[in-house]
Amino acid sequence: MSWLGLEGKRVVITGAGGGIGQALARGFAAQGARVVLLDRDIDRSGPLADELGGGAFALICDLADAASVTAAADRVEAEGGADVLVNSAAILRPGALDTVSTADWSAMLAVNLTGYLTAAQAFGRGMLDRGKGALVHVASIAGTQPQPASGAYSASKAATVMMSRQLAYEWGPRGVRSNCLSPGLVMTPMSAAFYADPEVKAKREAMVPLRRIASPEDMADVALFLASDRAGYVSGQDVVVDGGLSQVLMGQVPRPGYA
Ligand SMILES: NC(=O)c1ccc[n+]([C@@H]2O[C@H](COP(=O)([O-])OP(=O)(O)OC[C@H]3O[C@@H](n4cnc5c(N)ncnc54)[C@H](O)[C@@H]3O)[C@@H](O)[C@H]2O)c1
Repeated sequence: MSWLGLEGKRVVITGAGGGIGQALARGFAAQGARVVLLDRDIDRSGPLADELGGGAFALICDLADAASVTAAADRVEAEGGADVLVNSAAILRPGALDTVSTADWSAMLAVNLTGYLTAAQAFGRGMLDRGKGALVHVASIAGTQPQPASGAYSASKAATVMMSRQLAYEWGPRGVRSNCLSPGLVMTPMSAAFYADPEVKAKREAMVPLRRIASPEDMADVALFLASDRAGYVSGQDVVVDGGLSQVLMGQVPRPGYA
């Protein structure tokens, strides 16, 4: 526990009721951190906060609503402020780019990108004042590999990585680090429909060099490290956690004699 040095740290997690969010909350709490679970759906995060104890609490917070984020930040600041912010809330809506509506495009950006900035500003202000803090944004390999028929999802994740790099540049001199974690294929409520058919699941597993779909805990372990002082000289990075999936492109190209 002491190697990560997260004991007693106040860790705010957006989307804390989701698959990865819950694993993040459990992972930080297991390290002795005091976790604040933010989600627009408190039915998913509230019971977990009760279960975790150790000063954990849940707040309703809609990342697409700046007033809601500010209210949550004011509450956390009143309790001493945040040491760590992990942005994990996101939405995924289908849509090909020839037909995606502006409403769907904007709704996704409002949470996945603007919401991440709004939270960074609201919770980062105290970090900047205190001269210390860490931001971890959950992006996706879809930010570097276009994910078809998913509207603004890939664009939102690519922009999140660049926003995080800019935060690292602008806030580094004031003691705040910013990094991204880009998952590959993870089994969570967001992706559950993709694993309902065992044949599809097997095909997905076969695509991954490590031959398995990630668990939310695989993501949480890396986020814990990035948030900790052990990553104290890491900033502006995008750590890909995909079991090697983003390395397979050239292996898909037919190449006689090189089977
Ligand atoms: N599951 C995967 O395979 C996968 C792959 C790559 C990246 N990711 C990313 O990981 C992160 C977590 O995804 P997940 O799979 O745990 O998803 P999830 O759907 O299980 O959880 C997302 C959570 O965010 C909350 N949320 C949605 N909109 C919100 C808003 N406006 N305000 C506050 N909370 C809101 C939801 O209520 C939900 O609890 C996301 O950023 C996602 O894009 C997931």
